[in-house]
Amino acid sequence: MAQAIAENTRVLIKNVTRKFGETTAVDSTNIDISSGEFMTLLGPSGCGKTTLLSMILGILDVSDGEIYFNSTRIDYIPMHKRDVGMVFQNYALFPHMTVEKNVEFGLEMRKVPKEERKKRVAEALELVQLGHLAHRFPKELSGGQQQRVALARAIVVRPKVLLLDEPLSNLDAKLRKDMRIQLKKLHQDLGITTIYVTHDQEEALSLSTKVAVMSFGVVQQIGTPKEIFLHPKNHFVANFIGYTNFFKGKFVSKDGDYLVFESEQKYKLKVEDDGIHQIGDEVLLTIKPENIKIMEEQAEFNSMKGKVIVSDYVGNTTGYEIESEYKEKVKVNVLGLESYLAGHEINLFLDPKNLLIINQE
Ligand SMILES: Nc1ncnc2c1ncn2[C@@H]1O[C@H](COP(=O)(O)OP(=O)(O)OP(=O)(O)O)[C@@H](O)[C@H]1O
Ligand SMILES: [Mg+2]
Repeated sequence: MAQAIAENTRVLIKNVTRKFGETTAVDSTNIDISSGEFMTLLGPSGCGKTTLLSMILGILDVSDGEIYFNSTRIDYIPMHKRDVGMVFQNYALFPHMTVEKNVEFGLEMRKVPKEERKKRVAEALELVQLGHLAHRFPKELSGGQQQRVALARAIVVRPKVLLLDEPLSNLDAKLRKDMRIQLKKLHQDLGITTIYVTHDQEEALSLSTKVAVMSFGVVQQIGTPKEIFLHPKNHFVANFIGYTNFFKGKFVSKDGDYLVFESEQKYKLKVEDDGIHQIGDEVLLTIKPENIKIMEEQAEFNSMKGKVIVSDYVGNTTGYEIESEYKEKVKVNVLGLESYLAGHEINLFLDPKNLLIINQE
């Protein structure tokens, strides 16, 4: 690989708050990003992701708190001294400059000598596989190609930290996946500490070494993709990564390896005993739509009768909205073609091993 391996930079976000008038966009946030990490900020629209990146980049001041690159505090130093590369949400290329000039711009700003500039632009374009389009203008490129120019422009300056704000959001599903793989390779090759923003959970799980899930300016959970996926800490995180069925109740007894849960509507479900929860604990049980089975017959336990309200066939899977005998809406996804129409009566099986226990807040 032609490009130099990145400097080691740890990014420490310490009690950072940003207010816009009455709105607190980012609220006392703490995130410790190790050198070389691929950290994703995952959260719904308006939760403060772009605001947080903008403060790291230096186009927005913090209202309170501190940001460090290694042991150097950077939140009050000017943007051009921070050495950060950023791909913006709308990737904002200069329309009147060629691909090559767009990528070269940051090096000119940094007064890198011409020879060196040419070499580094060529390397960066090669890295994103756009060398052959160096003389085109942005309007002569597809969305995905423009995207890659924006990426080349951010990495050519060899930033200490790379910030990527939903860089794949304008691409079609296939290109999005291709670019995702390219990004992953790029990160493996360059090792630049990267902070990536998305509201797409699949993208977050696939790309990241760590994920920070945010809601209303507050970090809800930080962990590896596996930790977030298998052990979401609260209702918000669970829901955001696809656990869309929640049952509220408490544990009423033990049965061998199981804890027995009783819902507010008085139905019982067995859950694997996690050794943490006790009889009497008030909890939420949650399960993903794809982990609920539809059966013709009732299962011996953890069975629930229901009626199909609507079915939604989307190629590989069919989604069902089911009204349970307890008048709750339950979402179920099954592989393959829809075979139950609205009004059909079925039995659901909620396998104890797929039920997750979450504390009530
Ligand atoms: N310049 C501003 N002035 C006033 N309020 C702002 C400003 N920028 C952001 N906000 C508010 O701060 C909150 C966080 O905005 P931000 O752009 O960081 O969200 P986001 O997580 O990036 O959302 P999206 O996924 O839609 O890009 C929102 O409520 C937004 O309306
Ligand atoms: Mg944003």
